[in-house]
Amino acid sequence: MENKILKIGVFTSGGDAPGMNAAIRAVVRACTYYKLEAYGIMRGYEGMIDGDIVKLGARSVGNIIQRGGTILKSARSTEFRTPEGRKKAYDNIKKEGIEALVAIGGDGTFTGLHKFYEEYKIPSICIPGTIDNDLAGTDYTIGYDTATNTAVEAIDKIRDTALSHNRLFFVEVMGRNSGYIAINSGIAGGAAAVIIPEENITFEELFTLLGAGEKSNRKSNVIVVAEGSKIGDANTLAKMVAERSSYFDIKVTILGHLQRGGSPTYFDRVLASKMGIAAVEGLLAGKMDVMVGVRNNEMVYNDFDTIMTKHHEIDSESLRIAKILSI
Ligand code: F6P
Repeated sequence: MENKILKIGVFTSGGDAPGMNAAIRAVVRACTYYKLEAYGIMRGYEGMIDGDIVKLGARSVGNIIQRGGTILKSARSTEFRTPEGRKKAYDNIKKEGIEALVAIGGDGTFTGLHKFYEEYKIPSICIPGTIDNDLAGTDYTIGYDTATNTAVEAIDKIRDTALSHNRLFFVEVMGRNSGYIAINSGIAGGAAAVIIPEENITFEELFTLLGAGEKSNRKSNVIVVAEGSKIGDANTLAKMVAERSSYFDIKVTILGHLQRGGSPTYFDRVLASKMGIAAVEGLLAGKMDVMVGVRNNEMVYNDFDTIMTKHHEIDSESLRIAKILSI
């Protein structure tokens, strides 16, 4: 393994995701293992611009693998989108002697990192950390499994009260452009229907599916709606159904940011650990401007264009299963 790099900066950026701490830990410990120095950059690109950088060692990342959130904090930086902001960030990186970067975040994070690489040629690797699971080039992103389990747990609880009161619940889960959390929490939570941005179900189809007033007397139901639904969010859909029929007693629950917190599942911890090590090993092997991914259980490195020109498609089998089960 080539080893020209001695100092690596690691940071988390964009929406936080459970398992980010496990990834930070793996990056720092891989650095120690390969006799490199690790620096934590606080608040993502914001901290890079402000020079908010701390030295990290194997012990400073102890007792964090089980914690949600990110010890390095996170932000969405508008200043980093400007050439002046990136210049400030570069000056601070140089001042600390940091020679390579590992960013943990989603598509916005990778876009910033790619731009920075194009301008300043600092070897950089992105680790996909977002609950949305919306990045092409990886079967899973860090945090998605935990967020989906959180959604399933919530749906189970909502189902209890829905059944007791014969109510129809619209449960909104996160996912601006992606229906991953919705489709899989919907299948696992036994939802009557799942509305996702990737699929073109019409309101009429949804209404028919609910079977208002039919002999089935199925008043109690749970419909899972992804935040990015094209036919309306949970509140809008609830209102539309109520306007059409008084058959249902309708309630809405928006799960929101609770899906972003909590202790990561074993799956996310292991995924984050593997990806953190793969990022450091990738840098040592001379990789730059790539994103680590897992495909069919193998670690891969994807270049920027592969990630950004494609959407992480929901597999047709999941869509088929959700339909069959909603009968
Ligand atoms: O990208 C992760 C995500 O949680 C999306 O699912 C959601 O649309 C968005 O971030 C919310 O962002 P913020 O935390 O800035 O409100």
